[in-house]
Amino acid sequence: MNKVGICLTFSIILLLYGCQYSTEGLAEDKNYILAHNQPEDHPIHLSLERFTELVEEKSNGEITFELYASGQLGDEREVIELTQQGVVDFTKASASALESFDPVYSIFSLPYLFKDEEEYREVMNDPNIMDDIYATTEDINLTGLTYYDAGIRNVYTTDQDQVVETNEDIHNLRIRVQPSHTNIQMIEALGGTATPLGYGEVYTALQSGMIEGAENNVNALVDDNHGEVAKNYYYTEHAIVPDILLVNSDRFNELSEEEQAIIEEAGLESTRYHEEIWEEQMESATEIAKEEMNVEFHEVNKDSFIEAVQPLHEEFAQDEDTGEIYRMIRGEG
Ligand code: GCU
Repeated sequence: MNKVGICLTFSIILLLYGCQYSTEGLAEDKNYILAHNQPEDHPIHLSLERFTELVEEKSNGEITFELYASGQLGDEREVIELTQQGVVDFTKASASALESFDPVYSIFSLPYLFKDEEEYREVMNDPNIMDDIYATTEDINLTGLTYYDAGIRNVYTTDQDQVVETNEDIHNLRIRVQPSHTNIQMIEALGGTATPLGYGEVYTALQSGMIEGAENNVNALVDDNHGEVAKNYYYTEHAIVPDILLVNSDRFNELSEEEQAIIEEAGLESTRYHEEIWEEQMESATEIAKEEMNVEFHEVNKDSFIEAVQPLHEEFAQDEDTGEIYRMIRGEG
């Protein structure tokens, strides 16, 4: 974010903080702030909106929300920090962004962790696995509530003449990654040059040539306009990284059991709603990217990519933070 952006964000935060919270920092009423980084026509925004409507409805208007989209209150990392501090009450964040808050979240950025989307959904809907993960950040004042699909991530590049068949073809390419150690390791293992950037900076970085490619779901081409500048999209299918809905733990613990149950239930219902709209959105985004933005979609030799990242799998299987969950997901041990 530039200086003007930082000042603006800071002023908005002061304003929000001043209006909504008493000097003790506790919410005077149950009007909560939910902030995230995607535009208002993005499926994640629609699902978060659904979440807030469900909570409002189930609580008979006792709990209400103000939604801030498009990174208005800062990029993902900044908004996670604001949620920790209780300036923001709820946020959704990519599991990759959460990696620097708790190492267990790095598991989701491990390339080729899941066999397919079915396996991914089984894990994400398994409370035996996810409840522990959602609770890991409670000691830093963040409680995970549920997840939202954020699709299969693929590599895309700006050079019209670029051909990517094996991982050798991305050697030395400057590729944007989410600010996450595992994402950096992944691009390095594939032979590229990893450039960590907040999501809001990716379009300009692609346009200016600061980066030569990025990796994301197909929606990024359309909803975030990356397809205007990146004309080749390669089905590397290297990761399925969920978005996580988080709440400030103090704020959540202040609520009655009944209110907590309402929030949890609304979270799950919005996850189901998101699954439905996400599929449709992916299909229509692919169509628009092809037909209206002239993006070309290519298959690649996935085996070369899988092989190049094997050392990362060995590392994760041995690691004390991720070893157990790695073996659980991979069905090993
Ligand atoms: C996806 C994901 C976002 C994340 C973004 C990114 O769009 O849903 O939560 O911020 O990728 O690459 O930064």
